[in-house]
Amino acid sequence: MQGFAQYADWFYLVGAILFILTLRGLSGPKTAIMGNRYGMMGMALAVLTTFFVAPSPVLGLIIGAMVAGAAIGIYRARTVPMTQMPETVAMMHSLVGLAAVAIAIAAVLHTGVKHDGIHRFELFVGCFVGAITFTASVFAYGKLAAKKWAKTVKGSWVKPTQAALFIAMLGFGTNYFVSEDLTAFYLMTAFALAFGYIWIAPIGGGDMPVVVSLLNSFSGWAAAGIGFTLNNSMLIIAGSLVGSSGAILSYVMCKAMNRSLMNVLFGGFGATATDTADSGEVKQKNYKSGSPEDAGFLMSNASSVIIVPGYGMAQGRAQNAVKELYNTLKAEGVNIRFAIHPVAGRMPGHMNVLLAEADVPYEDILEMDEINSDFSGTDVVLIIGANDVVNPAAKDDKSSPIYGMPILEAYKAQTVMVIKRSMSTGYAGLDNDLFYMDKTMMVFGDAKKVVEDMTKAINGTGH
Ligand code: TAP
Repeated sequence: MQGFAQYADWFYLVGAILFILTLRGLSGPKTAIMGNRYGMMGMALAVLTTFFVAPSPVLGLIIGAMVAGAAIGIYRARTVPMTQMPETVAMMHSLVGLAAVAIAIAAVLHTGVKHDGIHRFELFVGCFVGAITFTASVFAYGKLAAKKWAKTVKGSWVKPTQAALFIAMLGFGTNYFVSEDLTAFYLMTAFALAFGYIWIAPIGGGDMPVVVSLLNSFSGWAAAGIGFTLNNSMLIIAGSLVGSSGAILSYVMCKAMNRSLMNVLFGGFGATATDTADSGEVKQKNYKSGSPEDAGFLMSNASSVIIVPGYGMAQGRAQNAVKELYNTLKAEGVNIRFAIHPVAGRMPGHMNVLLAEADVPYEDILEMDEINSDFSGTDVVLIIGANDVVNPAAKDDKSSPIYGMPILEAYKAQTVMVIKRSMSTGYAGLDNDLFYMDKTMMVFGDAKKVVEDMTKAINGTGH
């Protein structure tokens, strides 16, 4: 083992390069599988290298932890449905946070080691970031999994409590840093755990994806902190990659929603918007509605169709029915493609994942920037359970809360058809003028049933 240890940094370097290739691969659906493979190779290399350089007394513990972790990981990977992915990710972040806390406490307790100032700073920051990540991720998990204990908290007491806990955490952390007092270290950890929970608890379910992405970033920084504590370059690099990519993803999501991160974390917009969204039947204006059969007829006579999926497609689990409709129109010679908005649905890549699950070919799934200029030359746009991402108010109503958010320019197509169950608002709680345009036909009903009826009508098997 001793001879091997001198090459460990080289193996870690190769592992780090594999992680960078992973991120590159994961940036597109076609390369994502290869990206995942690079990640698996990088992780295997990192774990094996650590295994061989570890001092022999802990080898039994490492093997035990690896077997237990692999068994739980394989079981979860095989059983978790795609729809439970966000809460599973939140749960995994909580474990990274917990590991950071456990390692920091173990390092503090390690007898015979004198911690210098820099080391104490690493321990203090790594521990409180890990503790916040742990309880915040547990809450995010509970919220996404609709657990009863993960209720959104509201009230005038929340912000002062957050501030008090945060100040107490920093105060005791500084005390430990200056005096090496272990009680101060434990109190800092306890306040950080409490702060993590109360920081996330006021945020509404709709904003949880941004929170999960931010916690992803935190878990990365916590891992990097552990890396400094353990003097492990692999952990520092991998943690920094996770930390920065999570931060970038949070930024991209906020930008696509036209909100600042501060607004998501402390504004409470998500809480009010989602709480009112489903009840928000809006004022009387004139709109046209038609049957799935009318819509099927129009589409089969079109030469080009763009489908815009949104949260309603996910909610109605309509992706396989949508694939059938796609196949049917393709067979009729229609040029049919999908337009994906970066924040359609409720999590990053939500629509892409569902369409991939239904085996829609990647080349017909286009991102907003790739397809926006094609709407004006398109015969029919079929909007399936999308609302905010096609709301023209984002472009032309300066008073609208979503003004400035980039949208899919569906309103430019010749005919627009919208599948939804009612005239209710979407996530942002806003009325949508697109639904009242002369060129628009509303097709009311649950997304899956309506799409199935459209396909039957085109195939001539409807009633
Ligand atoms: P929304 O604006 O939320 O609209 C979805 C629409 O789907 C609703 O108006 C609803 O109308 C309809 N619907 C719901 N269930 C349905 C079903 N079973 N069948 C048919 N229709 C159904 O969705 P969007 O256009 O995808 O926009 C996403 C929103 O979420 C944006 O505001 C975005 O900022 C926000 N957000 C996104 C993310 C990410 S990362 N994607 C994260 C947080 C927040 P009815 O009730 O009338 O059926």
